[in-house]
Amino acid sequence: MVSGKGGAGKTTLTANLGVALSNQGEDVLIIDGNFTGANIAQHFGVGFQDVSLNDVLEGDAYITQAVAKHPEGVSILPASVLEFNGQEQNLKHSIVDFLGDKDFVLIDAAAGTDDEVQAAIETSDEVLLVSHPELPALTNTLGAKKLAEEMDREILGLVMNMVRDEKSEVEHEDIKELVDEEIIGEVPEHKHVREGIALRKPVVSYKPDSRASYAIEDVAHTLKGREPPKRPLQKRLKMRLQDVSPI
Ligand SMILES: Nc1ncnc2c1ncn2[C@@H]1O[C@H](COP(=O)(O)OP(=O)(O)OP(=O)(O)O)[C@@H](O)[C@H]1O
Ligand SMILES: [Mg+2]
Repeated sequence: MVSGKGGAGKTTLTANLGVALSNQGEDVLIIDGNFTGANIAQHFGVGFQDVSLNDVLEGDAYITQAVAKHPEGVSILPASVLEFNGQEQNLKHSIVDFLGDKDFVLIDAAAGTDDEVQAAIETSDEVLLVSHPELPALTNTLGAKKLAEEMDREILGLVMNMVRDEKSEVEHEDIKELVDEEIIGEVPEHKHVREGIALRKPVVSYKPDSRASYAIEDVAHTLKGREPPKRPLQKRLKMRLQDVSPI
């Protein structure tokens, strides 16, 4: 998952998409590919690990020692922001043998387009773009897309995050024209997402019947090549009743 710009929601969406896919029966591994700003573990309340991805990259540990199986169902490979020694070029060959039996391996990339991001893209077969619906963010996303294309990776599409439906936001048509990718999801900006982060519970678990969770689940269905489901009236009502103060 890449965005170009920082703070677009890569980590939040990676954590939530992982849990959504896992809830849909998939075997999921989430890798923290943002070594200099490692924070996927915090989204799950995973405390300090004796062994992290950094040790694996440095050849000091086996990947199986660094992977934590979380109660949410996903496996997590956390990095450690405190110990990063610039070994990102080892990412692909350090983990590749472990990936075979997983249905989905999601890598949370850093912002920008430097070595860390390149290592994350190089390790991936496909790339998912994330952006705010604002011009500066979209322009940076275009930079990330270019990088992925130069590296011959398939782009799965663009997920818009923190959508507020404000008039100032760039409209779909213009987003498509600028980034030239399909918009495969629109996740609203919502306090439920931030509350989930504070409670260390991805929003799809914290508020499963919320607008944000439905939007993320829909992306998970789309990634699997399925039509997102139509929720029963009762669930839609529950979602609307929870949605009183979105921001
Ligand atoms: N859909 C959302 N609704 C409300 N707040 C959100 C949403 N998505 C993300 N946020 C907020 O934005 C913050 C930044 O998100 P996140 O850390 O996922 O971005 P990032 O792209 O991974 O950033 P970085 O580039 O620094 O790694 C979150 O901590 C959260 O407060
Ligand atoms: Mg992040």
